[in-house]
Amino acid sequence: MMKVKYTIFLGSLLVTTLPINVSAEVTAKTMADAIHDVIEADRAVYAELVINRLVIEEEAIEASEEYHENIALPLPAQMLRASAEKIRDKKSGFSFSLVSEWPINSQNKVKTDVEIEGMNFVKDTKNSGTNFYEEEMLAGKRYYTAMYADVAVSNSCVSCHNNHKDSPKKDFKINDVMGAVLIRIPLSK
Ligand code: HEC
Repeated sequence: MMKVKYTIFLGSLLVTTLPINVSAEVTAKTMADAIHDVIEADRAVYAELVINRLVIEEEAIEASEEYHENIALPLPAQMLRASAEKIRDKKSGFSFSLVSEWPINSQNKVKTDVEIEGMNFVKDTKNSGTNFYEEEMLAGKRYYTAMYADVAVSNSCVSCHNNHKDSPKKDFKINDVMGAVLIRIPLSK
């Protein structure tokens, strides 16, 4: 009971102090976490409402890496990369991508020292459930870089990657960290 009353009190406190808090700056970490939530929500929605429904339940269409050449849906990772490329075109300096140490698409390989450090961090089982945050300088500009583990949540992740001709790793198991969602926010102009 006490807990409920406390929450309500906090709620009204937030409302009354809102005009003052609006001017407070959002930290780079909060921004990265929020963007990550949106990316994950979009991926889940695509998997549930499009792939599961049309490919698995209705068997109406296939999802295929060669969706360009066929009447097929793009894979979730290809959807993510397509929107990441659109964001990159905006030249705001902000970017995101799905990266890995063992990529099917070599463009997705971790490159900078911070990316390699972040990949090592998220794949370490000691760090499971925690994310990686670091600042880095790239071409004279300062960035806030966040990395979030991308886990093999289903057998389809494992079997597709292990059997893919371009995959350098063939022994992924369920619940393995397969890569990371990388989000980079510019800190200087
Ligand atoms: C039907 C095959 C298939 C399935 C299922 C699949 N992937 Fe992939 N995945 C790919 C392909 C192809 C790419 C490369 C896409 C590109 O061109 O960027 C990729 C890219 C990735 C990448 C970026 C690094 C790389 O390998 O290029 C990660 C990380 C990844 N997938 C994780 C997952 C996870 C986690 C799941 C399950 C939730 C999953 N994948 C399901 C085929 C698949």
